[in-house]
Amino acid sequence: MVAHISAIVFPLIIIVAVVPGSSLFSWHPSLMAIGFSLLMSEGIVLFSQSSSLIPSWSRPDKAWLHAVLMGAGMCSVCLGFLAIFFNKRLADKPHFTTWHGLFGLTTVCIAGAQCLGGSLVKYYRYVGSYIKIRLADLKLYHATSGLLSFVLFTVTLLLSLYSGWAQSSLHWLAWYASAACISATSLVVMTHITAAYMPSPGRGGGYMAARS
Ligand code: HEM
Repeated sequence: MVAHISAIVFPLIIIVAVVPGSSLFSWHPSLMAIGFSLLMSEGIVLFSQSSSLIPSWSRPDKAWLHAVLMGAGMCSVCLGFLAIFFNKRLADKPHFTTWHGLFGLTTVCIAGAQCLGGSLVKYYRYVGSYIKIRLADLKLYHATSGLLSFVLFTVTLLLSLYSGWAQSSLHWLAWYASAACISATSLVVMTHITAAYMPSPGRGGGYMAARS
């Protein structure tokens, strides 16, 4: 439950603080928080045995909802990226000059690659003969690179709290609540991926999860 509350509370704090639509910039934090913190986190947590909101759904139905939430999250992230990119361009400011900006650019690229990998898993029956990787291996790569991606999302979101805007616009309580929400969400997501996919001798290893 902590993961779901955190996934909603962080975007809410940002939305209340920035008011989406009040400026071109306002779309950047709002859409990034909704895309990564809400849609993409929920898209992963739905597979978790302990935290899923839809534990009784079949695996294929969960995989379908995962693809929908990740696709929607990626659209939100791309629009959030365009908002900050053009906001800086219009203000004639240099791009990617802060750690948040640099990590952010890497995060957006990795999220795109991760979605591409997920599409290969989903449409394996059409592309499998071309890519010459076994489906179980592809699923394992998708999950483990997802873990790395989520570490990057978390670092970028935490760095965003040190941006000039967050430092000047977020009340200290909202700042600490945001940091707690980002940490709690990522802890649940990373624990789920590690438990489900990382090899463990007692459970037969991550291969079993990848084969389901
Ligand atoms: C994981 C989600 C996020 C990603 C991937 C991301 C990505 C980026 C990127 C790539 C830039 C640089 C754009 C450029 O230089 O043209 C940037 C700038 C910025 N972002 Fe984010 N962002 C995210 C979340 C947030 C959030 C939640 C906030 C607010 C709390 C925020 C506040 C800012 C600010 C103020 C800037 C301009 C200053 C700077 O370049 O650091 N970002 N972001």
